[in-house]
Amino acid sequence: MSAELKRKAAEVALTHVRPGMRLGLGTGSTAEAFVRLLGPRVAEGLDIVGVPTSERTAALAASLGIRLATLDELPELDLTIDGADEIGPRLALVKGGGGALLREKIVAAASARMIVIADSAKVVAELGAFPLPIEVVPFGLEATRRAIVARAAALGLEGPVQLRMAGDRPYLTDGGHLILDASFRRIPQPEALALALSGIPGCVEHGLFIGLASLAVVAGPDGVSLLE
Ligand code: 5RP
Repeated sequence: MSAELKRKAAEVALTHVRPGMRLGLGTGSTAEAFVRLLGPRVAEGLDIVGVPTSERTAALAASLGIRLATLDELPELDLTIDGADEIGPRLALVKGGGGALLREKIVAAASARMIVIADSAKVVAELGAFPLPIEVVPFGLEATRRAIVARAAALGLEGPVQLRMAGDRPYLTDGGHLILDASFRRIPQPEALALALSGIPGCVEHGLFIGLASLAVVAGPDGVSLLE
């Protein structure tokens, strides 16, 4: 996605921001485009407070002078703006490509509304081409990985479930967890998979966001469209 398309989607999302809002700030390059537009508006006097979904977003927002709070200080938010790796039917999402899915989901769930910003290539008829990120605790990693493979197989899903690496070390999330990327290629029943993954001990959270987004702002070569 070009930087220009990211900015266009972010610009439209910005029109949904009102003075006094408690805003969840997503993670990833598209969410960062939004934060970079929000900064100057705050400098001009727009009074909002942001709850970041990652240390990365927190650092960027703080550098732009955006007032920040934790979710413990503000447990109910008005709106979260975030990107996605895939946007499927009924605005079911795959998220976590940037490794922030746990905080992103907690923040989105604490928000009255979630707006997803993305380019049109992220819109899919069926989820799953993008490997599904699953955040797991380090203890018992291989047992958890096998449980994921088995639960997925029971739903007819197959494919490698691999530990995400950062160079020669496992990738560590802001919460100190690991990420397994599950390449199922297609996820025809996201609700069933979400339920199955949620029941696995050691599985902290998965990147299926179902029933959380209420609007997607999608930028493409022919302009911006809204999906509800
Ligand atoms: C981070 C995410 C991101 O929103 C997702 O990976 C999309 O990122 P980008 O806007 O850079 O394509 O879920 O955990």
